[in-house]
Amino acid sequence: MRSLRLSKRGIGFIPKTLITWITFVLLIWMTQKASRNMNLSVIRGAVVHLTPPSLLMVVGRRLVVITDIDNELVLLGMKHILKKVLEDFPLDVHGVHGPKHWGRVCNYGMRIAEARGADKEVVKLFAFLHDSKRVNEHKDPNHGNRACQFAESLNGIYFDLTDYQMYQLRYAMAKHSGGLISSDPTIQTCWDADRLDLWRVYKEPNPLFLSKEASALIGYARRINLIDAH
Ligand SMILES: [Fe+2]
Repeated sequence: MRSLRLSKRGIGFIPKTLITWITFVLLIWMTQKASRNMNLSVIRGAVVHLTPPSLLMVVGRRLVVITDIDNELVLLGMKHILKKVLEDFPLDVHGVHGPKHWGRVCNYGMRIAEARGADKEVVKLFAFLHDSKRVNEHKDPNHGNRACQFAESLNGIYFDLTDYQMYQLRYAMAKHSGGLISSDPTIQTCWDADRLDLWRVYKEPNPLFLSKEASALIGYARRINLIDAH
């Protein structure tokens, strides 16, 4: 009886260990492959979280791989800017105002911009700059203005916005915490995208402050936050 019990435990134990190791090795290999493909190894620690839906996630015991080609392309265009922003970012990169939030804002912003004909370049830069100069995760009323100064210093070096695009970016960043609504599709798209990510702090986005195109994404943003939790 004793040897039979040992034998049964042995048979069950080996496949479980093998599955665990295979999953672990696959996880490492695919993370590195994803980083290489996106040419974002400079920020490898955050890369699996930057593109919602994430490139690679472990949900419960399952390994889930999801790719979003549009956002990969967007991120490739942002490589140098993102590296520059992260050089001086004072907060936790896994915090609620960090790169994972920027990635989701970019994702939502690109979808809304496509539907509304907003300026994707401005929306993309808003996503990655608007919270980049926060000094805390709570009350920091001047962080939008500091982001404007930062954007001014980058224009002409890291990107080339026209005067009007800079006006839109500055306005969107300076006022993004104010609960305003804009008739300018590009500025409103920036605010829409940021507000859709309120799910990350357990708040439901209010359609009264969103365009109808953004309101249609409230459920999508909720699902993204469930699988891409900060
Ligand atoms: Fe934000």
